[in-house]
Amino acid sequence: QKGAFSHFMLKEIHEQVESVVNTMRGRINFDDRRVVLGGLRSQLANIRRSRRLIFIACGTSYHSCVATRALFAELTELPVSVELASTFLDEQMPVFRDDCCLYVSQSGETKDTLLALQYCKERGALCLGVTNTVGSTISRETHCGVHINAGPEISVASTKAYTSQFIALTMIALQLSDDNYAKLPRRNEVIDGLFNLSNDIKKTLALEPQLKTLSKEEFGTDKSANLILIGRGFQTATVLEGALKIKEVSYIHAEGINAGELKHGPLALIDEKMPIIMVMPKDRHYSDSENALKQITARYGKPVVICNDDDDSSNFSGLKTIRVPRTVDALQAIINVVPLQILSYFMATDRSFDPDSPRNLAKSVTTA
Ligand code: UD1
Ligand code: M6R
Repeated sequence: QKGAFSHFMLKEIHEQVESVVNTMRGRINFDDRRVVLGGLRSQLANIRRSRRLIFIACGTSYHSCVATRALFAELTELPVSVELASTFLDEQMPVFRDDCCLYVSQSGETKDTLLALQYCKERGALCLGVTNTVGSTISRETHCGVHINAGPEISVASTKAYTSQFIALTMIALQLSDDNYAKLPRRNEVIDGLFNLSNDIKKTLALEPQLKTLSKEEFGTDKSANLILIGRGFQTATVLEGALKIKEVSYIHAEGINAGELKHGPLALIDEKMPIIMVMPKDRHYSDSENALKQITARYGKPVVICNDDDDSSNFSGLKTIRVPRTVDALQAIINVVPLQILSYFMATDRSFDPDSPRNLAKSVTTA
């Protein structure tokens, strides 16, 4: 079933052109810019009445929560916290009847996430699922939820589930805020961005030949066994997710670093030998990213930069760039993660590793 692709991972990366559309199908009317999530209908008023929202997940699913938290808080005006399921349980965090907890899981079977669900249900919280697998335990055990409809994901490395989770969470935020007139311009901007997303992903996938070459030239086997990825704001999740993908399939030690933290320690890692990827789209954090870039180049770092295709600044002279289409700030991370997925794929296959079945890992983690 891999068709023309040599691995499921690459097939699933390419499927994102369609899977993002499937996640939105029947749920967003782009003509009147309305979002209707059938799965939330019965609980909408209760969710809106919650005192706070707690997102709980593991791995890539956790990153989709990190990626959407800011927009969620902006649109719903509710406090939103994002928790790793294992930490949440370790710390036995306080949970109350008027809390709303969202469980994000591709498989719907991840043990830590399930244990956190059980914990919150016992304390009377309203529990929502965002799952890919219809009939999975999380889908059945939550009070309501949204199936992301990305289609089966076979590769252990999660790719299309991430972008669909991102969209599902964004749609939930849009739905919850549709009674707030003041948010209308922002909602419309995001919905218009969602309309163009599939096309933007298609254009980004066309960068594959360039990324294949970059993988060899910049991150080949002769280079350092480390890689750091730097971004901030909406791109913090992108660098965390990119680093996870790279370490999972290519076994290179990769670390995602928030650019705001650079001078609090990580800057000590920078020299002419350290491979670096920097993610800096033209959003409200751009000037902060420019400063971070200066700090890096002043220490002879030569990052490969993921930037917008309309960025004609002179910031990147002497550096290699990966130029991606520009979309609304809150969705840009969906586009920016795609080159990192592709790069991680080639970094694995260049080393003759099977990206579909990384060593020591299982697709569904059913033990705590
Ligand atoms: C549903 C149908 C879809 C149909 C559409 C037409 C299913 C699975 N979905 O989609 O085939 O085309 O109506 O109106 O039959 N749920 C949870 N937890 C989760 C995920 C979902 O409790 O983690 C619940 C939802 O609250 C809902 C049900 O499962 O009651 C189906 O969810 P979803 O598939 O997202 O609903 P629709 O998009 O309305
Ligand atoms: O099925 P889930 O989304 O709950 O799985 C969570 C993680 O185990 C999963 O995302 C893992 O991090 C991926 N293999 C990363 O690619």
